[in-house]
Amino acid sequence: MKKILITGALGQIGSELTTKLREVYGTENVIATDIRQPEDSKVVNDGIFEILDVTDAERMKELVETYAIDTFIHLAALLSAVAEAKPQLAWTLNMGGLVNALEVSREFNLKFFTPSSIGAFGPQTPKNQTPQVTIQRPTTMYGVTKVSGELLGDYYYQKFGVDTRSVRFPGLVSYETLPGGGTTDYAVDIYYEALKNNAYTSFIGEGTYMDMMYMPDAVELIIQLMEAPSEQLINRNAYNVSAMSIAPEDVAAAIQKHQPDFKLSYDVDPVRQGIAESWPNAIDTSAAQEEWGFSPQYDLARMTEDMLKQLKNKGILSYSH
Ligand code: SER
Repeated sequence: MKKILITGALGQIGSELTTKLREVYGTENVIATDIRQPEDSKVVNDGIFEILDVTDAERMKELVETYAIDTFIHLAALLSAVAEAKPQLAWTLNMGGLVNALEVSREFNLKFFTPSSIGAFGPQTPKNQTPQVTIQRPTTMYGVTKVSGELLGDYYYQKFGVDTRSVRFPGLVSYETLPGGGTTDYAVDIYYEALKNNAYTSFIGEGTYMDMMYMPDAVELIIQLMEAPSEQLINRNAYNVSAMSIAPEDVAAAIQKHQPDFKLSYDVDPVRQGIAESWPNAIDTSAAQEEWGFSPQYDLARMTEDMLKQLKNKGILSYSH
């Protein structure tokens, strides 16, 4: 990776990945793009930033040529709950953007990364220790686009030799940028509400287990996967990755170690609960460990300690103030 273009750079993953890639590969070697250009953003102001609508193939190609890009990191997409509300738009944006990105990667021989998700699984998928290769058949539009993306990634690798790589991300917990309408967002919201109100009402029900990961591990693993020798990658599109399998009450218990009076209640949203129940409880990550050394550093306790600390530093007020 010498000259990297990122789409969706202002999103939950992009905002932290851009900063990290600028540190590691040099500010001048990272071209951050998004569909909007807010004035007060680090991503916009601390390096190269270009407006890009990923459904505009010509503009995408122009940027790849102008900056002599060799690596394409495609993050622009709608998350699961928003995609369920706007399925036609989700297909147009998630698949249209992906096809454009893969095509430009084929034409210019770029190394390519795009995230898949635990959303690529469905109700017929084994729920526990979900294997790397198993039944998928998702029942959400988000999942349909993710499975299609995995298959297209393999197709472009086998047919055209594009060096495509991907992971099935679990819910990502982060303090820099909020996720944009996912099913796993409760695991982010709960920390903000813990600090603001010492209480949280969860839209995901008690006992609903999903895989999660703290953003520093997610950013680290993208670099690790992209730097791994190509010949080691058998399951390249896409690896199961996770750092913990948790339900809302587990996060509440971890917060109570810091705020003993923290209260969790439930007001379950049937749409997002339905999506969550169609996904696995806990996926098997052994292929990622064996093929490129995946090894997350944050468990629930460590993530909780850091989230509360970082959000306080950001000025999210503690309930006791
Ligand atoms: N966090 C994502 C979502 O909930 C899962 O990929 O949509």
